[in-house]
Amino acid sequence: DSADKGGYRHFMLKEIFEQPAVVKNTLQGRLGSDHILEQSFGNGASDILDKVQSVQIVACGTSYHAGMVAKYWIEGIAGIPCRVEVASEFRYRKFVVSPGTLLVTISQSGETADTLAALRLAKELDYCATLTVCNVAQSSLVRESDLALMTEAGPEIGVASTKAFTTQLTALLILTVALGRRYAIDKVKEAAIVSALHSLPGTLATALELDDEICGIAETFADKHHALFLGRGIQWPIAMEGALKLKEISYIHAESYPAGELKHGPLALVDDDMPVVAVAPNDELLEKLKSNLEEVQARGGQLYVFADKQAGFKNESGLTVIPVPHSEEIVAPILYTLPLQLLSYHVAVFKGTDVDQPRNLAKSVTVE
Ligand code: G6P
Repeated sequence: DSADKGGYRHFMLKEIFEQPAVVKNTLQGRLGSDHILEQSFGNGASDILDKVQSVQIVACGTSYHAGMVAKYWIEGIAGIPCRVEVASEFRYRKFVVSPGTLLVTISQSGETADTLAALRLAKELDYCATLTVCNVAQSSLVRESDLALMTEAGPEIGVASTKAFTTQLTALLILTVALGRRYAIDKVKEAAIVSALHSLPGTLATALELDDEICGIAETFADKHHALFLGRGIQWPIAMEGALKLKEISYIHAESYPAGELKHGPLALVDDDMPVVAVAPNDELLEKLKSNLEEVQARGGQLYVFADKQAGFKNESGLTVIPVPHSEEIVAPILYTLPLQLLSYHVAVFKGTDVDQPRNLAKSVTVE
């Protein structure tokens, strides 16, 4: 058993540390020197992508969070309308399908009952095509979709998803470029994104060097009952995923909020017994985020900020800064995921929970 864990104490830790390699595997065969190779998506991919005018993403759990990130990329960079919904809601709702909409499912297992039901429903409707971002080649979602963009994460054993998520994001960024080169992404922009993708595995490896430092702060979470995760823009879904990881394996109640919404409710909860975790990359929302965090500090909240080294945060009373290596802004959501995974992992280890098989949860939910 411990041999399967490759010397790591838990599968989850092994899978966290595999991320530079599996992200590299997911890029394999999909990138040229300055462009992406869209024929690697499957037969007839280019003809299908030519028809796409908008995107509907459907997924569950961690895969849904990957879809939330993709929405920022597909609308913000590719310039194409994109909607995202959890499959259990989508399948029971009446909705309008715009002409030329591509239905995208995201799933590690390819067998999640709600996601599969959503795909089957969509095939009866007027979607122009279906595409799945999936980790299991023989799965129902892959068999039943027109196109499959495989994540090459390898088997994921830990119930809490880690490497499946970051490889999904990698694949979704490639999909964004494939769609966007027909809209708002020109050759120069495509080359810049491809260059950021080429250096991503190396950047992820440097983030894993934060392991000891994160282990050092995790103990302060172990006796807490609640935690708040904040982000803004594309880092909000990363905060959602950070909160989900903490809930799943440490059983600490964690909520995520877009930081600008603090004043509309969650600020009432802030006291010195509730840690507040913020994801703060160096983008145009940084100054806004800083003023949101000052509101937390003013109320005695204990802040843990994962911040770009160049973002100008300094350790002070009530504020612990975990410096994250600098990266291209486009891949920052993938990078910031890793330290949040490590945080929940170490908190769970301090609490002594069953990290790889948390109570009441299943790796793949194949019944409704
Ligand atoms: C379960 C797992 C989660 C996963 C979700 C969706 O809840 O515990 O880790 O994110 O299912 O699974 P899928 O295989 O469709 O990505």
